[in-house]
Amino acid sequence: ATERTFSIVKPDAVAKNVIGEIYSRFEKSGLRIIAAKMLHLTQEQAEGFYAEHKERPFFPDLVAFMTSGPVVVQVLEGENAVAKNRELMGATNPKEAEKGTIRADFAQSIDANAVHGSDAPESAAREIAYFFDDKEICPRG
Ligand code: CMP
Repeated sequence: ATERTFSIVKPDAVAKNVIGEIYSRFEKSGLRIIAAKMLHLTQEQAEGFYAEHKERPFFPDLVAFMTSGPVVVQVLEGENAVAKNRELMGATNPKEAEKGTIRADFAQSIDANAVHGSDAPESAAREIAYFFDDKEICPRG
């Protein structure tokens, strides 16, 4: 079914100047970018976005990293968008990511892992609403 997922190009990938290469992978897989913007997350925005990880030991480092530079956030739409995007990204830890995935090709560490992608349609809906108003989303036929 046609589905939406939420994606972040993280500060490491923006710094490496590979936003376009990552967007190209989305598009080549058939996903459409139906909303996008660049922003530098505040501490509060990053903590709120990752609230489910608040108790994890990596939370402070995660928030520090995600506020260390600008990110690009986008909504991707297409067949099985959540799973398709997770396939494109590869494993969370780039050392475990399959060859040819975004994280294997562009990421260096589990924090600086180039991209975030929603893990389920329910989290996608929540994450999309966290960053985008309905009016900022431009679905196409
Ligand atoms: P992301 O998909 O953005 O969701 C949470 C992030 O926490 C994850 O990607 C990683 O970048 C980061 N992280 C750091 N350490 C861990 C860990 N041990 N397990 C899962 N995620 C981690």
